[in-house]
Amino acid sequence: MEETETFEGYASKTPKSKALHERAKKVLPAGVSYSIRYFEPYPFYTAKAKGSKLYDVDGNEYIDFWLGHTALILGHSPSAVIKAVKKQIEKGTHYGTAHELEIALAEQVAKMIPTAEMIRFTNSGTEANMYAVRLARAYTGRNKIAKFESGWHGGYDALHVAVKPPYDMPESAGLTPGALQDTLILPFNNLEGVKEKLEGIEKKTAAIIIEPVLGVGGAIPAEKEFLKGIREFCDENGILLIVDEVITGFRLAPGGVQQYFGVKPDITVLGKILGGGFPIGAFCGPAEIMEKVDHLRYQRPQFSFHGGTFTANPITMTAGLTTLKILEDGRLINRLNRLGDKIREELKEIFEASGVGVQVTGTGSLFDVHFTKEEVKEPGATFRADRKKLAEYHLRLIENGVFFLPTHNGALSTAHTKTDIQKLFSETEKFAKSLK
Ligand SMILES: Cc1ncc(COP(=O)(O)O)c(C=O)c1O
Repeated sequence: MEETETFEGYASKTPKSKALHERAKKVLPAGVSYSIRYFEPYPFYTAKAKGSKLYDVDGNEYIDFWLGHTALILGHSPSAVIKAVKKQIEKGTHYGTAHELEIALAEQVAKMIPTAEMIRFTNSGTEANMYAVRLARAYTGRNKIAKFESGWHGGYDALHVAVKPPYDMPESAGLTPGALQDTLILPFNNLEGVKEKLEGIEKKTAAIIIEPVLGVGGAIPAEKEFLKGIREFCDENGILLIVDEVITGFRLAPGGVQQYFGVKPDITVLGKILGGGFPIGAFCGPAEIMEKVDHLRYQRPQFSFHGGTFTANPITMTAGLTTLKILEDGRLINRLNRLGDKIREELKEIFEASGVGVQVTGTGSLFDVHFTKEEVKEPGATFRADRKKLAEYHLRLIENGVFFLPTHNGALSTAHTKTDIQKLFSETEKFAKSLK
């Protein structure tokens, strides 16, 4: 397909976005505030969002399967959250002091996630992972941390490594060898490979950090046996297991991976859904570990610092609390998980019927498509698949009112209707048939 032809349909529907992108490029590098939000030929610019839909400045409507980086499990601006936030806004947007809402949300998290006896809030998942790594080092007195190939934990220097192949190429300029020298890279879903990589340095390793379902890596779930093996390996060697549940937390199960996969983290990192549509991150765990953050118990140099101007912002706390109370009994989450099963099955059938080789990955309400005949159990396979075709599939969907951030996985919200899902199937079918 000619490049101009590829973009023609999209361009004809989005002239105002094109103009905004020209304007944006002068003040925002690449015209966006996060590189992944850019896609070819230019991103559409959103004017408003409600329920399962995004509306752009040209008046186009999109069924949203990206959901604010998967954060919006109740869809855009759910009425219960908006009502609570409106009430809170009148009482103050930011206190910068201790307040009751932060206690209430911490209690709610502790109630839902069994190992989360104590919690600290941050403003992003990146920050939460940074503080979790620091805490693990403080608690164990060790320096090394191990992460997995294609694990994405945000832009913190020590974790911003080996996200996309080639894994030995720096992910960003400006990362010093010093920042990365204590980070080890492990193969995903490969217990023997993990043991091999850490042989001889087990006792220098503070933590293994894992995404239980790789996000950027292609919505690949960790195998239960693999997670169990990692847990045992950590226990045998005094290593802390940090589970980064920024995507999976309150999405796969009300109690997180410990409920969904049956593995207990030492430190759980949360974000996205926890904020109810507002910026957040958090790290939590048993009191014995979390108390290292307590400056009343520990003084320098034993104390592990955490803080920040907007931590536990009352608007975020309100939105998060309202959201978790809605999700607490697991009914909605389970319904979305069942819908996820159906979507994975149906997408696979649609492509198979057209003779297109795809692998559909994911679990619960997360799903992804890979144009490859190779089984996708580790992230290398995600990146060996035809990514150009994936971007083309997503752009065709966007053109026809179905939004996935090109080459990224999809997620479900309780706002998605049967008609929305049907539209995903019918547009996918059109695309699959066009490949014949
Ligand atoms: C698993 C995981 N961890 C951490 C992060 C970083 O979170 P944030 O973008 O809020 O800094 C993300 C963001 O996508 C994520 O998916």
